[in-house]
Amino acid sequence: STTDKIVVAIDGPAGSGKSSVSKAAARRLGFSYQDTGAAYRALAWYVAERGIDTADEAAVVEALRDFDYAIGIDPDNYFVRVGGIDVEEAIREPRISAIVSSVARILPVRAYLVELFRHVIETSDTPGIITEGRDITTVVCPDAPVRILLTASEEARMARRSAEISGQSAADVAKNLLSRDAQDSRVVDFMNAADGVTVIDSTDLDFDQTIQAVVDLIDAQAGES
Ligand code: DC
Repeated sequence: STTDKIVVAIDGPAGSGKSSVSKAAARRLGFSYQDTGAAYRALAWYVAERGIDTADEAAVVEALRDFDYAIGIDPDNYFVRVGGIDVEEAIREPRISAIVSSVARILPVRAYLVELFRHVIETSDTPGIITEGRDITTVVCPDAPVRILLTASEEARMARRSAEISGQSAADVAKNLLSRDAQDSRVVDFMNAADGVTVIDSTDLDFDQTIQAVVDLIDAQAGES
């Protein structure tokens, strides 16, 4: 590319901490931060709002035409809006988590959003941008100079997610998380690192140590390319 923008791709399963870690690492580096799961969630919210059954794939794809999605990529000014409405909280509700996989498995939806994510990366104006999701290292930015798979043991992921979600039993959190990962894994493989992708296992790291591991890797690998 003609610019020196540092593109960082991070994938991982639900509860790996990749959203909070990516956001904090971006803040530390003065980079932008793009949460791609938010786009799948926002679309799931939008189709639910319009009373569309996610099993009706044609109707979901049709809804993309009026899907007015906006995300903040400044880690200090994060927002998610659909049609100007702030949906940041609503898209995390269990009713959305329960249907988001059925939206994310629709291939024309993925193709549309992949282009949108690439456009956000291209038009970002900070020295670098961290984009986080399930297929960033493999599909969205397979040529990124820094590609990371952030993992953690199932136990650690469930414990972290339980701490985030109130109003749900630990058993429900675990069941929902595992079934969502199982569904999502059928479409994209985010459990195994693709060639050239560095695994950071955060099972035995605290939040700060995980951020530091990500920042160190970016410093080391971005310098090489
Ligand atoms: O990271 P998250 O839990 O907010 O992601 C929500 C859903 O979106 C997740 O169940 C799978 C899907 N997703 C995807 O298919 N590809 C991405 N790059 C990001 C998320």
